[in-house]
Formats: sequence, C-alpha cells, structure tokens
Amino acid sequence: MDNFIRVPVELGARSYDIRIGSGLVSQLGQNLKDLTRQSRVFVVSDNVVWGLHGRVCRQSLSEAGLTMHDFVLPAGEASKSWAHLGELLDWLLECGANRDDVIVAFGGGVIGDLTGLAASLMKRGMSLVQVPTTLLAQVDSSVGGKTAINTEHGKNLIGAFYQPRLVLADIGLLHSLPDRQRRAGYAEIVKYGLIDDPEFFAWLESHGDKVLNLQADYISHAVAVSCQAKARIVAADEREGGVRALLNLGHTFGHALEAANGYGPDLLHGEAVGTGMVLALRYSHRLGLMSMADCIRADQVLAGGGLETDVSKLSGGAYRAADLVAAMKQDKKVRSGHVPLILSKGLGMAFILPDADLKDVQQFLSEELQGR
Ligand code: GLY
Repeated sequence: MDNFIRVPVELGARSYDIRIGSGLVSQLGQNLKDLTRQSRVFVVSDNVVWGLHGRVCRQSLSEAGLTMHDFVLPAGEASKSWAHLGELLDWLLECGANRDDVIVAFGGGVIGDLTGLAASLMKRGMSLVQVPTTLLAQVDSSVGGKTAINTEHGKNLIGAFYQPRLVLADIGLLHSLPDRQRRAGYAEIVKYGLIDDPEFFAWLESHGDKVLNLQADYISHAVAVSCQAKARIVAADEREGGVRALLNLGHTFGHALEAANGYGPDLLHGEAVGTGMVLALRYSHRLGLMSMADCIRADQVLAGGGLETDVSKLSGGAYRAADLVAAMKQDKKVRSGHVPLILSKGLGMAFILPDADLKDVQQFLSEELQGR
C-alpha cells in the first residue's frame, strides 16, 4: 500500500500527481527515475532548507543511482530576482542541461517560483518537479503552475504558467518550520474552506489546533483537501480567465498590505492574506452580502491560528488607506482600469466582483485602520 495520499491535477497531456505523506523525500530518487532516462538531476534549494534537509535529498538520489547537481541560493524573497534567474540559467547551461533533464525545486515558494520560471525558459522547457518544504508552498504555490520573479515594479509581475510533472509534499519536513511560517501557511488552508467548502471550514473550527500542531492525520487531511480544492480550480481554469481568481480571496487586500510594507520580513505573505481575507469578508458585510456572525466565525478560525485579523493592529508599519488602494490598482487582475475583488455571500460562498468601487473601499479601509 502507498504511504501517501495522491491528488491528481487533471490537465490533459500536462496532468500530474501531487503526493502527500511523511518521509516522501527519501523516495524522491525513485520518483525521479520514473520521470527521466538521464542519470543526473538538477536540484535548486536555499541555504536554510538545504542545511536542514539536503542530506536526506542527496542520499535518496544517490540510492536511486542518480548524480545530483545542486544550486543553493540565499534564503529569502530577494532571491526571486532577474540576477538569480540569470545565474541559475547560466549554471544549467554550463552543466549542459537539456530538455529531457529534470530540475527539482526543493524549498518554499521563493525557490518554487524561481526554479519553475527557469525550467520554463531553459531550452523552452525542461521537466520540473516541486518538492515544497513550507506549509504555504505545499497547499498553494507548488501546485498549479504559476512561476515568477519580482522586479522593482512589483512582486510576481514577470512569470509564466508552467506545470510541474510531480509535486512531492513531505509533511514530515514541516516539523522544522518556524511557527510563524506554519501560521502563514494555515491562512491559505483556511482560504479553501472560505472559498467554497463550508464543511472543511467547520472541520477547521474543530481541528485547526491539531493541524497547526502537525498531528499527522490532521495535517495530511488539511494539505490533501487544500490540494484537491486547488487542483479542481486549476483544472477548470489553468490560466486564470475566470474561476481561478477565487484563489485570490484576501490577496488583493493582502498584496496591498505587503506592498505598503515594502514586502519586508515584518509581514509574511500568508499573514497578509489572513488579514486580507478578514477585510474581504468585512467589506462583503458592509455591502450587505455577508452576516457579521459569519465574519466573526472566519475571524475566530484565523485568530485561533495565531494570525492578526485586525488590520489596525497589524505589524509592519503605519498603513494608509490611500496607499493601500493605490497598490490595489496594480493588481494583476486589473482589466481596463477595473479592479476586481473576491468577496463572499457567506462561509464557503466566495465570488468575483468584477469592478470594485474604490472610493468606498478606501472609506472602508480608513475606518478599519482606525480600529474596531
Ligand atoms: N496562488 C493563487 C493561484 O495559484 O492561482
């Protein structure tokens, strides 16, 4: 019997599996052998992840008879840059990498996004395997094929849709994750309940603490349900022409908070999304769409996960409503000057409002920033 949960992502010829379980990195080499005829593999990681988990990765590859070439970047968002993308591609070229080689992104969202983009560009596409090592990457960024780097113009503005051939989510790796990162990933898990799965939301109300404590059955269930939700939405709308935008619940507000913060370490992406989701729900309430009782339930699940849900108390600086709205106008979903917002009619009833009234949003934000 398999020691993992399998979640298929159905994308025709580009379909792939997400495998979720404990200890899967030790089977990485065997999994890679099924994907390549080459006897070598390229692995990209960051210095923190590699220090913690590089040895087991190396051993697994060597047991499978694979030679490993590793490229280790400094940990942190700054590695998602043109400069590091260029270095990575030059390294692959120097190593003589070809289209039928496999490159493994072994790390969190930064490594996954950068390596994914490099894989898409290398000789117009080499095989990519994602081994996400953070909770956020396991439930969100490693799945669905979004790859990107940041530039001085903003975050993730240069990128490509490029699907991996396999995602190996080893929940055993999460034990070495700092608490803050764990909570940031939890926000994205709650998101799936809030989008369209009230049953999962209710399950998190009862069991969220066990998910956060990484109790095996609970964390694997939470990661699997999240991946199933993401796989379903990505299969329906790979390139975000419509329904995939729902995955951005809380992100328009959240990205604006991150931008106002200079994408600094005081506010992690998942933390911004947690606060952003509460803002989206409270704004839905202001429009008469959602009950305050439902807003409070969502707030409690996120706050119970240690996330700051009150924007007036959020760390990272003095936020101004006008700056946040200006940042919202830079959102990638903006079309012909219309800023869409993901709002909700109730728990698990998110929908896309195609054209938000930004004057009203600004008024709402200035009230929220004054405190509840
Ligand atoms: N993280 C949102 C998406 O993959 O579409």
